[in-house]
Amino acid sequence: MTPSSLQASAVPTACVIGWPVKHSRSPIIHRHWLAELGLTGDYVRHPVEPEHAADFFANFAGGPFIGCNVTVPHKEVAFASVAHADAVATALGAVNTVWLEDGRLMGSNTDAEGFIANLDQLAQGFDANPGAAIVLGAGGAARAVIWALQARGFAPIHVVNRTRDRAEAMAERFGPDIRPAGWNDLPALLPQAGLLVNTTSLGMEGQPPLTIDLAAARDDVLVTDIVYIPLETPLLKAARSRGLQTVDGLGMLLHQAVPGFERWFGPRPVVTPELRRLILADMGIVEAGAAA
Ligand code: ATR
Repeated sequence: MTPSSLQASAVPTACVIGWPVKHSRSPIIHRHWLAELGLTGDYVRHPVEPEHAADFFANFAGGPFIGCNVTVPHKEVAFASVAHADAVATALGAVNTVWLEDGRLMGSNTDAEGFIANLDQLAQGFDANPGAAIVLGAGGAARAVIWALQARGFAPIHVVNRTRDRAEAMAERFGPDIRPAGWNDLPALLPQAGLLVNTTSLGMEGQPPLTIDLAAARDDVLVTDIVYIPLETPLLKAARSRGLQTVDGLGMLLHQAVPGFERWFGPRPVVTPELRRLILADMGIVEAGAAA
């Protein structure tokens, strides 16, 4: 939708706002569910420059959208702009899903739920005996992952980050079970952890690879990456070749979309292998053994 077409639409329309937002695959996800469920509605990309983000939210109720997803760099502005943020969004200080209730702007953050739902689907029982976990990175994505792991009982959570202050800020936000650490500490931490999560941008297409020696890791450690381009990151590849269980990050993107769709359009959609294939096809990937 272009700015000139921002009149009230006859079709209930949600959007994703960000800057830039042209690579977002959220429209593919939501349009797939709308078609699958036979619903009238639409979902579009809506680029909003940083200097206009606060205005966008301030004028949301009079605008053309029934709700929106919020992506980088607007999640903190969204949090500051909503009339009410739910408990998760408040804990994270960031909003990624917005809707209206009686004309009031409401906000949630579904990144944590998306992260956990992906593991529930692809590594069922991963939290049966939650113990120590390692989270690589201490940015916005790490916040959602740490919140989710705490909610599932993981402790302690070692937060390994290049910039020590940011790891320490996680301990201030989430409490003493969060243990700030540096990359040099990793070899000593690996034998303790049953879960290893990468939330840094390392390993992402165009970024340096994440190269860590997994020799000291437990044989039963689950390794997951929130980076999903490429689908098999260098970390996941190294883990797989060491025989470790892995979960890629694409499912987090798919699952974080579920609560927003349900808020805006009614039914709760399901993340299916078909939806995963659709997104992979858009990424130019045909998964080996993709049946069902
Ligand atoms: P996001 O909101 O996606 O988490 P972010 O807040 O920019 O993005 O955080 C990126 C994370 O990747 C941070 O933990 C960052 O480490 P610093 O806090 O030290 O910046 C980490 N990261 C990015 N590039 C890195 C690199 N070359 N080496 C080590 N860590 C890196």
